[in-house]
Amino acid sequence: MRVLGIESSCDELAAAVLEPDGRTLRAQVIHSQEDLHAKYGGIVPEVASRDHVRRLDAVLAETLEHAGLAVSDVDGIAVTRGPGLIGSLMCGLEFAKGLALALERPLLGVHHLEGHLASVALEDAAPAPPFTALLVSGGHTLLVEVRGPTGPYRILGRSRDDAAGEAFDKTAKMLGLGYPGGARIDRWARKGREDAVPFPRLMDGRDGYDFSFSGLKTHVRRHVTAHGVLAEQELADFCASFQRCLVDALLDRAVPAARQTGRLVLVGGVAANSALRAGAVQRGRAHGLDVFLPSVRFCTDNAAMIARAGQLRLGRGQRSDLRLSATARWSLADLCP
Ligand code: KG4
Ligand code: ZN
Repeated sequence: MRVLGIESSCDELAAAVLEPDGRTLRAQVIHSQEDLHAKYGGIVPEVASRDHVRRLDAVLAETLEHAGLAVSDVDGIAVTRGPGLIGSLMCGLEFAKGLALALERPLLGVHHLEGHLASVALEDAAPAPPFTALLVSGGHTLLVEVRGPTGPYRILGRSRDDAAGEAFDKTAKMLGLGYPGGARIDRWARKGREDAVPFPRLMDGRDGYDFSFSGLKTHVRRHVTAHGVLAEQELADFCASFQRCLVDALLDRAVPAARQTGRLVLVGGVAANSALRAGAVQRGRAHGLDVFLPSVRFCTDNAAMIARAGQLRLGRGQRSDLRLSATARWSLADLCP
């Protein structure tokens, strides 16, 4: 089934057309609102949803133009239903419902995190379930055992406080690097030394697979208070050391957790991080794991992954009712295969 995917759960608005083979991405347009929120130092939900409403028509038109298709050439519609910002979610969902009704095509409301998990299935070397996924985004940090193409999902570990992406973003803000900060810290870290600034090892996995990043944030705040705003080499060294600490904390849990399935998959925005990618390959392989990384463009929020997740369920005959409503909170563990 050729699927149109729509993603609007946060501050990105994206549409994509995925061919029936599940690999050929016919077109994708991603509109990022980074500039809109930068001056506030974080996402303003009302600003995000108003912009989505304004742009939905144009993003769809541009996607179809790139694909060389008419909207009626699409066989099914997949749209993010949750979790995320409720206003943002509603924009994409109601738009998709209107399309499904007008075109008489099946609709599927997708779990955003199932979308991230499906991002790896867009690639040729996709791993077959079962596999263990480290899902690291701006809102979530989860270790998940994926038992089949549409679940079930077993949560092995989660963050008790901040998400990994949030730790990156808050640190970047304290360092004066602006918002969103993950990719900026990644860039600065390339010029720095990982052992330049001492950081504590954040628990070593003996206490299970849960994560905690609040101590790391406190450490950053103390350093910034003591040293003021850092410049050039100091800043690069600090970013490299911080990033090493966070990446080690993620891999200290993900690598042992993945021994059960023998396959480790990294997904979510933070999976774009160069140190995390390199570390997962190196440490995973040293422990006999097969390691799978989606392309960087499929790690951060996109509509291709939503189309893929929806396609897997639509292909199994699953359909969403047009009375479907958006949901800000929705646990992956509650999803039926
Ligand atoms: O998955 P995503 O695009 O959106 C959510 O579902 O949250 O993840 C966004 C997060 C942000 O916190 C952003 O700073 C982080 O991913 N991120 C990175 C990198 N690129 C994006 N963090 C570290 N290194 C990167 N290269
Ligand atoms: Zn996401």
